Amino acid sequence: MPLHPLTRALCLCAALALGSAPAWAQSQPPAGRLLASNCFQCHGTNGKGPGFDKLAGKPSREIYEELIEMRAGREDKGGIMAKHAMGYTDAQLLAIAGYLSKQR
Ligand code: HEC
Repeated sequence: MPLHPLTRALCLCAALALGSAPAWAQSQPPAGRLLASNCFQCHGTNGKGPGFDKLAGKPSREIYEELIEMRAGREDKGGIMAKHAMGYTDAQLLAIAGYLSKQR
């Protein structure tokens, strides 16, 4: 007995839904990239400029320590970077610094 057209349409939809997850659901951005993307507006995409200080390829420890100083208000007191650094945990700053240091 042939399938009812509605049943056939449902089967087709189910097959499509199972077979092809959208690209965004399959690929996660590299570690730290999503957090670091908050910085691209001023430091350029992936920290490569143009903009304020270039961050791409800087040693991750240097970036991390600068961010810790800024977050504590010891550097760039009341400045724009202090405000930005305050939004992140140690682990998040490490992930951001790690990502930026790997950019060439
Ligand atoms: C609204 C603009 C803006 C955004 C967004 C921004 N920055 Fe900055 N950043 C600056 C400015 C301006 C300076 C220079 C500040 C100074 O020297 O006092 C700076 C300096 C820095 C420095 C010091 C660089 C050096 O060589 O001394 C680091 C590290 C840094 N930013 C990291 C980041 C990170 C990481 C983010 C994202 C979490 C970020 N910035 C987001 C504007 C921004």
